[in-house]
Amino acid sequence: MANNYIDILKENNQEHLLKYLDMANENQREELIDDILNLDFKTIKELYSISSRDNDKAIESCIIEHTKFVDKYKIAKDEFDKYKNIGEEIIKNGEYAVVTMAGGQGTRLGHDGPKGTYILNVKPKPKSLFEILADGIKRANSKYGISLNWYIMTSTENNDRTVEFFEENNFFGLSKDKVRFFKQGNLPLVSEDGKLLMDKNFHIKYAADGNGCIYKSMKKAGILDDMKSKNIKWIFIGSVDNALLNMVDPILLGITVFEGNKIGSKSVVKRSPEEPVGVFCKKNNKPAVIEYTELPTEMAKETDEDGELLFGESHIMCNLYSIEALEKISENTLPYHSAHKKAPYLDESGKMVKVTKPNAYKYEAFIFDGFVFFDDISILRGRREEDFAPVKNAEGQDSPQTATELYNNYWENNENGRM
Ligand code: UD1
Repeated sequence: MANNYIDILKENNQEHLLKYLDMANENQREELIDDILNLDFKTIKELYSISSRDNDKAIESCIIEHTKFVDKYKIAKDEFDKYKNIGEEIIKNGEYAVVTMAGGQGTRLGHDGPKGTYILNVKPKPKSLFEILADGIKRANSKYGISLNWYIMTSTENNDRTVEFFEENNFFGLSKDKVRFFKQGNLPLVSEDGKLLMDKNFHIKYAADGNGCIYKSMKKAGILDDMKSKNIKWIFIGSVDNALLNMVDPILLGITVFEGNKIGSKSVVKRSPEEPVGVFCKKNNKPAVIEYTELPTEMAKETDEDGELLFGESHIMCNLYSIEALEKISENTLPYHSAHKKAPYLDESGKMVKVTKPNAYKYEAFIFDGFVFFDDISILRGRREEDFAPVKNAEGQDSPQTATELYNNYWENNENGRM
């Protein structure tokens, strides 16, 4: 068993780091050695082994079926009212909380800073994505006479700036003690030949471990305990980058409770086979989402007899869980998915190299992989114009411009607030 960093590096085929140790100054060297001694090389090896996995084959080996859903606008009035009452009761009792995943990098958007600080030029005045979410909370607070607890997941990279932004904006008028931040974890990036990459200042290059690590991070940061101590029974988890995200929908809550499920989710109809969204299905008889990066093209295009996409129920990151469900998932390990990415790195002469094509593997857990621990999920189909205005790309589809238009259209027609 290796017990010093040189042996550890040799044993794990990472001796190239020794060259960096020679170049680093004393402090950098100490930090790097410390990092090496703390790295979980077994996990790194396992992750590298999935890097070139054939996703199409992995999916072909599963039984994939459609999933049932309920269209929010086709529910009969008495049923609708029943779900609404169930959901509202829980919300008014203070048993509901919301979580925002804001640990992502927003690389596609090209914004320099946490994605939630991105300002959309909406009417009547420009607002950051965080402020838009805060508005939703304030509306729910006044509608139900409550003070919702808001938990925000950040990353090592963007945590300080996120907290600062909330402070600069006086928590958007929310009570500071109702907003709590927690950080997600990191994983090292690995080169195409399985070597750890170096970053500036002779640090090992890390990236956030994916939004699926939220469960583990919530447990580790004491968020689940905090929720239990506040008697919170139902938790909504959503993304930071949807300008129409409805975090407090009593119908989603009511139907999930009524159907006796521990998890629920909102969907919208997929725009086209190419839209970059995950799609709901049943995988080996368990609720699942197949991510757009892993859905075989043929499956993405399949249609039913009415010409509708067979896998057309989009996952829009509007997920609901009972506290027991979150605890259960947090006690399990989710699989990692690998992505081939462009990662600038420090070369062996100590210079940062900009890259023009993918050169590294990044590993991420996906939030919806937590659904597999349950037999069923309640899926409520909403409407794109009401529920989904993603801000993903700098231009074109799913950009600040399209999200702003969707936001303005919705709020012009719903001045009195959401249903
Ligand atoms: C995500 C979903 C996809 C869905 C689409 C809808 C996953 C894995 N994919 O794809 O199924 O159809 O949104 O818009 O969820 N995040 C973190 N930490 C991370 C990575 C991401 O907090 O390590 C957060 C981001 O801040 C953001 C959300 O997760 O709030 C979505 O992340 P992003 O990487 O943009 O997801 P998409 O690829 O668009």
